[in-house]
Parts: sequence; structure tokens; C-alpha cells
Amino acid sequence: MLKHFITSAITALTLTAGSAFAAGGAGEIEDAHFSFEGPFGTFDQEQLRRGLKVYTEVCAACHGLKYVPLRTLADKNGLGYSEDQVRAYAAENFEVFDADLDDTRPAKPADHFPANDAVGAPDLSLMAKARAGFHGPYGTGINQLVKGMGGAEYIAALLHGYTGVEKEEAGVTLYENKAFPGGWISMGPPLEDELVEFDDGHKNDVHHMSEDVAAFLMWAAEPKMMDRQDAGFRGVLFLAVLSVLLYLSNKRLWAPIKHARND
Ligand code: HEC
Repeated sequence: MLKHFITSAITALTLTAGSAFAAGGAGEIEDAHFSFEGPFGTFDQEQLRRGLKVYTEVCAACHGLKYVPLRTLADKNGLGYSEDQVRAYAAENFEVFDADLDDTRPAKPADHFPANDAVGAPDLSLMAKARAGFHGPYGTGINQLVKGMGGAEYIAALLHGYTGVEKEEAGVTLYENKAFPGGWISMGPPLEDELVEFDDGHKNDVHHMSEDVAAFLMWAAEPKMMDRQDAGFRGVLFLAVLSVLLYLSNKRLWAPIKHARND
């Protein structure tokens, strides 16, 4: 039985290793440090706000965020804007179609970020979870666990991974990118140094803006990450206390019997 199990485990491992190898062409992802990594990591509110600005001014031209409600921009563990700021941001930046009016109107906090299918760019709501930077040996995800979520690293690496080389294939321009699997992506380099100005004068070179917008997209895909970590920590603490109590009651319950035997 055991032998049978070991043989199938080895076969499964070889098969996964084989297919991961065959898929090939995985991009180069360098490790970036994000504030939300690790069991006690938290989102950096200022970084998320800069990322939202990059998304709004650059990426929203092609990419939607249709699963993200605008009101969540007021979440305490996220961007932490006030209700008034969210209302102003929504109305200023987005128009949505209202079926009741049979017309478009400025967006409200109750709406979602709009979808955008204009140029066939994928929706970015869940992108940071759909992609992973580090799969680790044989796609075990071990590296992802050790080095962070990975999806944000992938997006950051993709945005600053352009080599500047382009080619035309069947009438489509493709751009060489070190992070994109296969090496050629149809999205032109969306960022350039100083493209977006930040109010606090924060660094706005391509590298910094890539990480800011990647952090924002991580929040968009996983806005409850902090709450989940808190709940997990409380759970572990509770189990630790419970174990001590159980150990002590166990000792106490068996004490008379043990002593009886020793007599
Ligand atoms: C001019 C339009 C345009 C702009 C602006 C743009 N993108 Fe894209 N993006 C695309 C298209 C088209 C694709 C699909 C590319 C492909 O699959 O070859 C894409 C794909 C992506 C992908 C998915 C890559 C993958 O692994 O499949 C990510 C992530 C992404 N874009 C992020 C961004 C971010 C972040 C910004 C803003 C800084 C941005 N894009 C700005 C057009 C755009």
C-alpha cells in the first residue's frame, strides 16, 4: 500500500515538473519589497493612494476594474479616504451608464469602477491574484509563501520589464518584455518617468510608479488581506492558549491514577 502511494507520488511530481518545464518561457521576476508581505504586513496607505492615481491617469484608459466598488476607497485598512473624497473622486473621473435614466451620469460611491473593453485589455480587478511572481520549485508555490504574494511583484516587474525592442506580427505590434511569459506582449510600455505627478512630490520614475500601481492592484484584488491576517493571528493565539489549558487539565485529570500506580 505504502509502496503504491510512493510510486504514485513520484509519478505525480515528475509529471508536474515535466509540464512546468514544457510550458517554459517564464518571465524574469525580481523580488520587490512590499509593505503588505509577511504575516504582520499592512498596506501602505500613501502607496495605495499613489497607485490609484497612476491607475486613474494611465491604466484606466484601457483597463477596467469592474469588480471593485468605488465606496471601498473609504476602507480604513485600505486607502482610507473620507466619504466626501470618494464621492468627489467618483464623479470627477468616471461616467457610468444608468439604466433608469437610459443615459450616462457621473459615477457615485455605490457604483463599481467601470469596465473597459475598448482595446481588449484584461480587467485588472483580480489580476494581482490571477498572476504569481514566484512559483518555486515545480510550481509548489513555496517561493510565493516565503517571498510574498507574488502577483504584485509580477505586475511591477511587467511594467518596468520592457527592453525597448518591438516587432510587428500579423499587423500587431509586440513589445519585448522580460517579465511577460513568452517575452512579447501587445501592451506598449504604459509608463514613462515623471508621467504622473504626486502631490507629496514622491519619486515618480517608472520603477516607483510600477510598484505603487502594483500595490494598489494587490489591494483591489484582496482588500480584506489585513482583516484576514488579524483573524488568523487571533485564531492562532486562541489555539495556543487552549493547548496550554488542555495540557494542564489533562495532567490534573490523570494525576490521581498516576500517583496510585506509583504507590
Ligand atoms: C493603451 C492601452 C493600455 C494601457 C494604457 C495599459 N494597458 Fe495593460 N494591457 C493592455 C493590453 C492590450 C493587454 C493585453 C496584452 C497581451 O496579452 O498581449 C494588457 C495587459 C496587461 C496586464 C496582463 C499581463 C498578463 O500577464 O496577461 C497587466 C497586469 C496590465 N496590462 C497592467 C497595466 C497597468 C498596471 C497599466 C497602467 C500603468 C496598464 N496596463 C496600461 C493595454 C493597456
